[in-house]
Amino acid sequence: MAWVYVENLPRYQGEEVEVRGWLYNRRRKGKVLFLLVRDGTGIVQCVTTMPEIGEETFVALDHLPLESSLIVRGKVRADKRAPGGQEITISSVRIVSVAEEYPIGKKEHGVDFLLNLRHLWIRSRKQWAILRIRSRLIRAIYDFFFSRGFVLFDAPILTPTACEGTTTLFEVDYFDRKAYLTQSGQLYGEAGALAFGKIFVFGPTFRAEKSKTRRHLTEFWMVEPEVAYATLDDMMTLAEEFVSEIVEAVVQDCGRELEVLERDTEKLQAIKPPFPRITYSEAVQILVGEGQRFEWGDDFGAPEETTISTHFEKPVIVHRFPKKIKAFYMEEDPQDPQLVLGFDVLAPEGYGEIIGGGQRCGDIVKLRKRIEEMGLSEKVFGWYLDLRRYGGVPHAGFGLGVERTVAWICGIHHIREAIPFPRTIYRLEP
Ligand code: 4AD
Ligand code: MG
Repeated sequence: MAWVYVENLPRYQGEEVEVRGWLYNRRRKGKVLFLLVRDGTGIVQCVTTMPEIGEETFVALDHLPLESSLIVRGKVRADKRAPGGQEITISSVRIVSVAEEYPIGKKEHGVDFLLNLRHLWIRSRKQWAILRIRSRLIRAIYDFFFSRGFVLFDAPILTPTACEGTTTLFEVDYFDRKAYLTQSGQLYGEAGALAFGKIFVFGPTFRAEKSKTRRHLTEFWMVEPEVAYATLDDMMTLAEEFVSEIVEAVVQDCGRELEVLERDTEKLQAIKPPFPRITYSEAVQILVGEGQRFEWGDDFGAPEETTISTHFEKPVIVHRFPKKIKAFYMEEDPQDPQLVLGFDVLAPEGYGEIIGGGQRCGDIVKLRKRIEEMGLSEKVFGWYLDLRRYGGVPHAGFGLGVERTVAWICGIHHIREAIPFPRTIYRLEP
């Protein structure tokens, strides 16, 4: 008999199949017993009665604790009333392992309780939907770059210095010296771009964020393309094509998941290039126009990003930021030395910044000065300066945060649900 995954059941109409899974829920209506069995790909309703299965098995199934593992055999039948549109008429059941009383009930639980049980919580329907969307999104990210001829270029996790500033570094003992967990693979990505033309770095990044917001994790995944001979404008165009394509892939393939999340997919279908582009100064005008107190030169926080993004249906690109609020490696704006050629992409619906990037400083003298001003060590940046000494060219790139993008696509409140095991300031377990 065929072992069939629930998502493939529609192809087995009228056939006897075997489903291997776990008891997700159970309900009895008079003499009829309904078992909802999940197998990771979906949930199927399996139905039986006492005369069909025998009293002993019926009673055992009627008392089987949730999340017990079981193998069900039976005939597949289309039934519009059943979740997923298929039902299995049970011919036999083998209980693989009887679970202890399952701690997660169908009632509402507090988020801390659920996070402590994250290893079990991921089995629930909503978490299933979110993490499958994450998986599909990551596949779309690889597809996007590989189909455009980018080379995957892995950056180290253990690094000798900061990339995004020294305040959020995780320090690690490294034999007789200190190392830091990477905040971004960008600087290594730049070396890769000058060697391979266009590359992308993809991996976990780490920031000792003390902020307890719904947008910050201490460990998150970032994908960072870097392109030699590209400018700020090239990168903004790449970013809007990239975001549009990965969102489209999820919308196309994850209909079931988005339905579980009750996500309004019309909003996602509207995500197509071009995206609106405004300067930092124009963004400040929006804030002031909304009556927010904001000084030119300050950095946007979550409230500012939300105000700006609610003016647009699509993601909005903000470019040309004040130099003093951006990282040391940004190229100065030739039109205005107070500004840098950096850009952020703010997601719609108040999800905030999902991309940061820009053109990289090409002038070795300016770069050295900025490294010095930031109190960073030139000794460990020597190799990075070599990239300007040996065949320096204009180049640019960006980084997209996977969890913020997943949270936006899924329409969930907090990004901690967008990664299997979130790490935040107060959470290292499980
Ligand atoms: O804007 P950021 O700091 O940019 C960089 O790290 C550049 N070096 C990228 C590059 O140009 N190659 O971070 C990029 C993105 C943000 O837009 C956000 O989506 C995500 O990374 N991000 C975080 N996501 C979750 N938790 C945090 N603490 C994050 N910090 C940044
Ligand atoms: Mg940023």
